[in-house]
Amino acid sequence: MALINDNFIILSETYLFSEIARKVTAYKEANPSANIIRLGIGDVTRPLAPAVVKALHQAVDEMGQAATFRGYGPEQGYDFLRQTIVQHDFASRGIEISPDEIFVSDGAKSDTGNFGDILGADNIIAVTDPVYPVYVDTNVMAGRAGEQNANGAWNKIVYLPCTFENQFIPALPEKRADIIYLCYPNNPTGTTLKRAELKQWVDYAREHEAIILFDAAYEAFISEPDVPHSIYEIEGAKEVAIEFRSFSKTAGFTGLRCGYTVVPKTVVASTKKNEHIPLNRLWNRRQTTKFNGTAYIVQRAAEAVFSVEGQQQVKETIDYYMYNATLIRKGIEQKGITCFGGVNAPYIWLKTPDSISSWEFFDRLLNEVNVVGTPGVGFGPHGEGYFRLTAFGSHEQTREAMQRIVDWKL
Ligand code: MLT
Repeated sequence: MALINDNFIILSETYLFSEIARKVTAYKEANPSANIIRLGIGDVTRPLAPAVVKALHQAVDEMGQAATFRGYGPEQGYDFLRQTIVQHDFASRGIEISPDEIFVSDGAKSDTGNFGDILGADNIIAVTDPVYPVYVDTNVMAGRAGEQNANGAWNKIVYLPCTFENQFIPALPEKRADIIYLCYPNNPTGTTLKRAELKQWVDYAREHEAIILFDAAYEAFISEPDVPHSIYEIEGAKEVAIEFRSFSKTAGFTGLRCGYTVVPKTVVASTKKNEHIPLNRLWNRRQTTKFNGTAYIVQRAAEAVFSVEGQQQVKETIDYYMYNATLIRKGIEQKGITCFGGVNAPYIWLKTPDSISSWEFFDRLLNEVNVVGTPGVGFGPHGEGYFRLTAFGSHEQTREAMQRIVDWKL
């Protein structure tokens, strides 16, 4: 009989956000009149920017004419978009990245998940804890995680706790770590690393010949000056870091799907025979084999995000969400609950009162005030006792949710 990849058996049966959706659906079926407010999954709710919609319409018209129709595009992305990204996201910050170091894709979830394809099975993986579950689950699938302990931790993964006690600044690994996942501004805690803090990680990676997989999906939400938008703002990062970017939260593309990954030609990893191979070459090989490119119309839409009007419009939407973040922070503090994040990120991370477990807090919040959030423990063992709310709702819903929480008899 054909064999499965056994690693899928040791994974938890459902992905975190699928499990939450299942619980919410069950509650809704049992309580059809409940007015549920969803501040759980980080999915955007505001419509696409008019500049993006216009570009989409134009691109659709091009696809409908023989003279301008396009079939397969370059797997790495069209040059018009790669050039625009280089100019806007890097050259404007004094960072030298060339267009052939940019790989356009259908989003950062796929890229952070797929990147492991080109990395050896024996690498030791390090993750912050709590962490975006994709990094861990995809390494379980690849057989790099080992076995799961009773508290949910995998014995081959190096966990870097981020808690109230260290103010969510992870300490450098004490054990060997070859591949380090960092997401800043952070999902789920909404916290950041300042320039000097991120520099320690780049220095560590250079010294230990490790690679940093840097997820910058929330960079557009940064409001403070000392928080780097790109890891390449740090000297030496181009030798050791891969960066993932996304249009999902920046420009409301969660349904449209577009992101990109920067793979500098200077980042190398070793074969078993100690030959140094640029990851750019391998990622190109992987993408050309397994991916046929992001849709032309979507790439035109992404290009429009960088136009003058596009920039203005997506900024307004980000400000809209960050106003929600302020409402959430205020409401949570008014309730006497400690919270973090929500200043440079659309996530608010709160400490559950009276040490209520994350899932109990989830159940009570859903059952007693009909608000959905995400249990911290779903992001890793050190997320236990914490809970995440997102700022991606409407002002009305966010206000209403906070009022319900403030009035809640906890
Ligand atoms: C989240 O809620 O953490 C996000 O939706 C994750 C994602 O972007 O996939």
